[in-house]
Amino acid sequence: MAMGSAPDQAPLAPPLWQQLQACAQALQAVLQGRNHAQALSLVEVRLRPAAQALLFAVLRQWGRTLALKKILVQRQPSAPANALLCTGLALLVPSAQAMYPSHTLVSQLVEAVKRQASTQAQAAFVNACVRRFLREQDALMAQTDSVPSARWNVPTWWMERVRQDHPDHWQTILQNSQQAAPMTIRVNQRLISRDALQAAWAAQGVMADAVGTHGLVLHQAKPVHVLPGFEQGWWSVQDLAAQSAAPLLLTGLQPRDGNRLNLLDACAAPGGKTAHLLEIADAQVTALDVDAQRCQRIHDNLARLQLHAHVVVADAAQPSSWWTGQAFDGILLDAPCTASGIVRRHPDIPWLRRAGDVAGLASQQKSLLEALWPLLAPGGRLLYCTCSLFASEGHDQIQTFLANNKQARLLPSVGPFLPGVISQVDSVADNPDHDGFFYALLERQPDA
Ligand SMILES: C[S@@+](CC[C@H](N)C(=O)[O-])C[C@H]1O[C@@H](n2cnc3c(N)ncnc32)[C@H](O)[C@@H]1O
Repeated sequence: MAMGSAPDQAPLAPPLWQQLQACAQALQAVLQGRNHAQALSLVEVRLRPAAQALLFAVLRQWGRTLALKKILVQRQPSAPANALLCTGLALLVPSAQAMYPSHTLVSQLVEAVKRQASTQAQAAFVNACVRRFLREQDALMAQTDSVPSARWNVPTWWMERVRQDHPDHWQTILQNSQQAAPMTIRVNQRLISRDALQAAWAAQGVMADAVGTHGLVLHQAKPVHVLPGFEQGWWSVQDLAAQSAAPLLLTGLQPRDGNRLNLLDACAAPGGKTAHLLEIADAQVTALDVDAQRCQRIHDNLARLQLHAHVVVADAAQPSSWWTGQAFDGILLDAPCTASGIVRRHPDIPWLRRAGDVAGLASQQKSLLEALWPLLAPGGRLLYCTCSLFASEGHDQIQTFLANNKQARLLPSVGPFLPGVISQVDSVADNPDHDGFFYALLERQPDA
């Protein structure tokens, strides 16, 4: 340390009442239909990490919170008071992940209500509600246990769909979806080996275990910028299930005429799977996405990882507007979906989706599949995937496609990843700690 300079000091954490207010502000935005990222962007920057941690904990108890509130509250309070009350109730629900002792939480919650002009008149009401919850906790928990949306913390239609689509595993899946996900990363093997990265991290006290073929899972999640090698492009954050896409598409895929593989990543932004393809194959990759802003993220990610793709802003369902006519050896279609498999990382999703969204997304996926299939060279492969648990976006979608496309053959060794359930995919067979994902690898038979 240079003479006279102050020792490094961690910034003081904001008081809990302020964090609760920030969480409630974001929660109010989610209740108005914004996703968690949009909601958190409204919160003061210094309070954002704490607000996110609290918001995620609250949303993981959202079904329970609604059921409790129905019993405890006769007349709906104002929106800001409601958000604070719900924040308090959700964080008081007994769970393995309890963040604060209940007496601390209650006193800080009441402080938060009192210190806001928009809520201070409702301090006594909020205080009475949360104290009644604490007094009658056991009975209230038992009473709400019989409400499916409270028991599983997803809307009832969502629970029914998971139960119908996965009769053997639905409880494990729903239980697992309420947990926080581990931080899993993919090593950029063009720049560093997994062993070398693991050793570099261990030297700085960051412990991680190898998972899958290119992954490391951290013992404790950390912000990306404090971990060695992020800016240098040595690694990217990517769930274990998503890390299967590139190897599945590439294994056994041969370029025609001895050229480099010509690949299309049809729904590519922000570029996680595009980058993985480029890290492990000598390929020319077209990365397409309909969203121009998200395409900028592909550029940024590839630049950081020192990789290159041809990035195109276009609608994959309208190839006449962008396709050059050169057939692709491989196509990755990571289609837009309900994202029902990634609830651990996006606990707002079940509450933002409506039952009717599933059919609309399935129809969009069907259009994309049908539009892209003709762009595949004979003998080429298309990997269809969604981060969804719902059969209509996975298994059923592919069965319909196969019934209507006699040139398509479903290749083996691709199975659904279900959170908490041991997968059939060899490389992660012993690790169920992944998101929900559906994969189907289709091969185009040579023309008759
Ligand atoms: C599941 S995300 C893709 C994630 C990406 N493959 C990755 O690994 O980072 C789906 C993407 O599809 C894009 N999308 C939706 N409809 C599309 C269309 N008709 N054409 C091209 N992209 C589309 C969305 O903008 C979104 O970026």
